[in-house]
Amino acid sequence: MIIAVDGPTASGKGTIAKALARHFGLPHLDTGLLYRAVGYQVSLYGGDPNDPAEALGATNFPDELLGHPELRSEATGGLASRASVHPGVRKALFERQRDFATQPNGAVLDGRDIGTVIAPEADVKLFVTASVEARAKRRWAEMRARGESHTLVEIEDDLRRRDTRDTTRKDAPLIPAEDAFLLDTSEMTKEEAIAAAIAVVNEATGQTPCP
Ligand code: DC
Repeated sequence: MIIAVDGPTASGKGTIAKALARHFGLPHLDTGLLYRAVGYQVSLYGGDPNDPAEALGATNFPDELLGHPELRSEATGGLASRASVHPGVRKALFERQRDFATQPNGAVLDGRDIGTVIAPEADVKLFVTASVEARAKRRWAEMRARGESHTLVEIEDDLRRRDTRDTTRKDAPLIPAEDAFLLDTSEMTKEEAIAAAIAVVNEATGQTPCP
């Protein structure tokens, strides 16, 4: 079974995808991490992620980079969003994601274009959203826990910029697949969002929920 989980930054898609993978016993790939590795690799050498050739050159990042803590930072998220607009970069990362999606026992992938480009044949497609305000509050709390201090307004502005870039790029923009289930987590706790996502998968695949 392939489960595609797409959605904007801080919508809860990563948490939901991980929980679905655990619940259904499937391997999970956070595809945003690949774009983050590209963005970070470009910046390591003083390059510019807006430059298509420099960004493409960074797609051969070493695998160990995927575990680097700096990949999770807001700054790297911005670099990743810039690097991800280039068709060459998306093409270079395609095979790796496609291979993961099509492994024999199935997989859960989260990102922006899983249901539309990477695995359009996915058995279940979830498009996870939340209001900018709700997402900014979650991001603020996460950053505070890490000791980073930003105001809510700064975080909201950054999310809006990232949303605009991700949804308006020409190649594989962030849009729900026609057959995706929309899950708005604005008013949900983490546990409620996970339960709702599991219910969607059970419903879509005709599985009986666990008692
Ligand atoms: O999900 P994330 O915040 O880690 O993603 C970082 C950036 O990577 C995001 O702003 C856009 C890009 N991305 C993408 O274009 N396609 C994906 N499948 C995943 C991420």
